[in-house]
Amino acid sequence: MFMTGMQEMTLVESLKGEDLLSLDKLETEEVTGLIELGFILKKLAKEGRYPKLLSGKILGMIFEKHSTRTRISFESGMIHLGGHAMFMNSRDLQIGRGESVRDTAHVLSGYLDAIMIRANRHTMVQELADEAAIPVINGLTDIYHPCQALADLLTIREVKGGLEGRKIAYVGDGNNVAHSLILAAAHAGMEIAVATPEGYEPSPDVMETATAIAGKTGGHVSWTSEPDAAVDKADAVYTDVWTSMGQEEETAARVEAFKGFMVDDEMIARAKPDFMFLHCLPAHRGEEVAASVIDGPNSHVFRQAENRLHAQKAVLASIM
Ligand code: CP
Ligand code: NVA
Repeated sequence: MFMTGMQEMTLVESLKGEDLLSLDKLETEEVTGLIELGFILKKLAKEGRYPKLLSGKILGMIFEKHSTRTRISFESGMIHLGGHAMFMNSRDLQIGRGESVRDTAHVLSGYLDAIMIRANRHTMVQELADEAAIPVINGLTDIYHPCQALADLLTIREVKGGLEGRKIAYVGDGNNVAHSLILAAAHAGMEIAVATPEGYEPSPDVMETATAIAGKTGGHVSWTSEPDAAVDKADAVYTDVWTSMGQEEETAARVEAFKGFMVDDEMIARAKPDFMFLHCLPAHRGEEVAASVIDGPNSHVFRQAENRLHAQKAVLASIM
């Protein structure tokens, strides 16, 4: 714990030197600690204060897929903290023409203080983390998007004043964003109701792990194929794209399968009147969400996008 001006701030010390690959590997106190630290770092930033906690540190950022928010928020976050971030398109690295993950991990460990990676396969990120001597942060894989979920909960905590006992409805594809959100909500003692079409459910492993976590935190995890049931009296309604990066050839089949899952005015009428609409972005208006909802008065999607920066600063400062 240390003071920046009059503000008391606690890093999540147990994460020092650790990887952040998925939220099931974190203790509940670590997840809630990161959200609180992000909250304080945001408050400081709004006062124009940027504690230089990572002076001289270098983050390498490897991308196998497109990104706007993840890339820019990590880079800005490192600058705020006094360090540097380096963008690497995987196609331009030798890994793009067959150099092994192992060799890459060992080489990069000699140049950098941490790696953030967005990759097609979670198994590749796991291998990178196992081989690297420096911490590895998951910036999205086929299975998880943990930094997104930390920002999502920071956003609810900010607007609602707390997380415990709040209900979040996730409507759409049981994908990477859903998996991390389910785990984060369970850690935070929230009720998370997931609605997906049959065949697009979240992974049973994630549901099982989240249910076990929720058993300790007082949270609750459920699944239904009825979006209206999930959204009933929700404090937050969340959706993501029906077709994730890398699934483009399934687009037509998914549009068909997800009929009735668009978050529209009729659906949100079942949520609490002061519900928050959330979406990790990028969004497709008229597909997973109606324009009137994402651009409506209950939408917090731009606050949520901004909170990627603050939540990730908490991750970076604690890990490095
Ligand atoms: N939400 C999110 O991860 O956005 P980007 O794909 O733009 O990084
Ligand atoms: N589920 C989406 C999230 C993008 C931030 C994807 O993986 O493409």
